[in-house]
Amino acid sequence: MGEPERNDGLPGMAESYWVATSPETGFPPLDGDGRVDVTVIGGGIAGITTAFLLKRAGLTVALLDADRIVKGATGYTTAKITSLHRLIYRDLIDRDLIDRDLIDRFGSTKARQYADANQAGIEMIASLVREYNIPCSFKRKPAYTYAESEDSRDLVAAEVDAARSLHLPAAFVDDVPLPGRTYGAVILENQAQFHPRNYLLLLAGHLPGEGSYIFEMTRALGIEELDDGVRVRTDRGLLSSDYAVLATHYPIYDRPGSYFARMRASRSYALGIRIDEPFPEGIFINADGPVHSWRSQPAASDSELVIVTGEAHGTGKVTDTRAHYRRLDEYARSVYPERIVDYHWSAQDYITADRVPYIGPLAEGHNRVFVATGFGKWGMAAGTAAGMILADLIRGRASPWAEVFDPARFGEQPEYPGWVQKSLQSVGGTIEVNASWFDREVATIPPREGKVIETDGQKVAVYRDGHATLHTLDPTCMHMACTVAWNNAEKSWDCPCHGSRYDAYGRVIGSPTVKDLAGKEVVRR
Ligand code: FES
Repeated sequence: MGEPERNDGLPGMAESYWVATSPETGFPPLDGDGRVDVTVIGGGIAGITTAFLLKRAGLTVALLDADRIVKGATGYTTAKITSLHRLIYRDLIDRDLIDRDLIDRFGSTKARQYADANQAGIEMIASLVREYNIPCSFKRKPAYTYAESEDSRDLVAAEVDAARSLHLPAAFVDDVPLPGRTYGAVILENQAQFHPRNYLLLLAGHLPGEGSYIFEMTRALGIEELDDGVRVRTDRGLLSSDYAVLATHYPIYDRPGSYFARMRASRSYALGIRIDEPFPEGIFINADGPVHSWRSQPAASDSELVIVTGEAHGTGKVTDTRAHYRRLDEYARSVYPERIVDYHWSAQDYITADRVPYIGPLAEGHNRVFVATGFGKWGMAAGTAAGMILADLIRGRASPWAEVFDPARFGEQPEYPGWVQKSLQSVGGTIEVNASWFDREVATIPPREGKVIETDGQKVAVYRDGHATLHTLDPTCMHMACTVAWNNAEKSWDCPCHGSRYDAYGRVIGSPTVKDLAGKEVVRR
């Protein structure tokens, strides 16, 4: 069974610039059982920062990653380190602007916590870069949210007022240093950008030793909460600790229903392009739709890579994802006609119902398991703030920002539905098909493509590999039994419900599922 070729026909290297230009890691897997003070699951910015700060405070930690560290969301980010999250502050202060039934008004006190936490995250990164002399091209930049229409000019102006009322040094500017017509922007000075893998791999290098560990290729399968601690069950052994932190993309362990109904998964696309003029000083995102963002990054031989992102859609909701890369490229070309595409990659983000991350105890009464998730597309400053908040809470200290991020803010959610268990018990097995119908259906699947086909109310996911061999799977997601959909750019099966992802052969590549898709035998008649 080989690896499916990714993104055929698309320009540039099919890899994130950050992953392509930083060393591979090779930390060992867990081997048997062990004990530390805190087990941190998930080797992205929130997990590594939490583990780093806890170890620096004298605790022993084990950081687990199902794959290699900094290869999940953090390896595919745009790596803008900012508190300016498009247009959020007016919403945070005046929750009447969004779903009134779902969300309580946050008000200025909590909105201020949100702003302060993000600003503190930026300063924490800056101070760690200084203190450890981290060569990650950290650079201060102004952040802009710019208007492309008269209507959004008013929204941008309102965002300036909201941000200033929270003591953020925001201002309105008429001139935005990007090509094309704009209608002003909110600008926040002294924000930043960096190379996230170069930063985090150096921090991670400080973790192993003195009773602390990084275990890669170690998949957490579940957590058992005990009176005096927790036990994390993995595919390589058992880890006992006083506390566990779930810093995975999507919590692999959940109080029934707590998060599933309250976060949506979104995929978006990035291009790394070269242009024939200097890129303006700043990090940019538009206030209008469709959303696009821009930043630049120093690259090899004094050149500059410009990163443009956009084309977001719900995970598992689109099959022709290649079209999203193409449209993003058309947009980039409309701004910089002479652009050359060097890299393309996609990312997955989780967005909470109120766009504020979940950081804190998993749920009321569960004070030994902490969570950090739902950063939307703004995980660098907030992911670092998450590490600061969790390191404080685990050490029994108050955090000045914990309240706004409290995962329990929506209260109890419905129980895990019984039909899920039933559906998951009956996955796999066989499907009987009419032979000529089946042959006609699969004849439409080109090499290295997949499709879910259905007959008599039964479904089978079919992948045709590069040698024309068909691989048949049960398309039932092993998380909560939704039906996965084919993603033709990434050659993956993606779940539209909570964003679990599987490779073309059904192997897990993204949580919350921890189990591979089941095989399905096709019986022709
Ligand atoms: Fe929850 Fe698939 S990710 S059902």
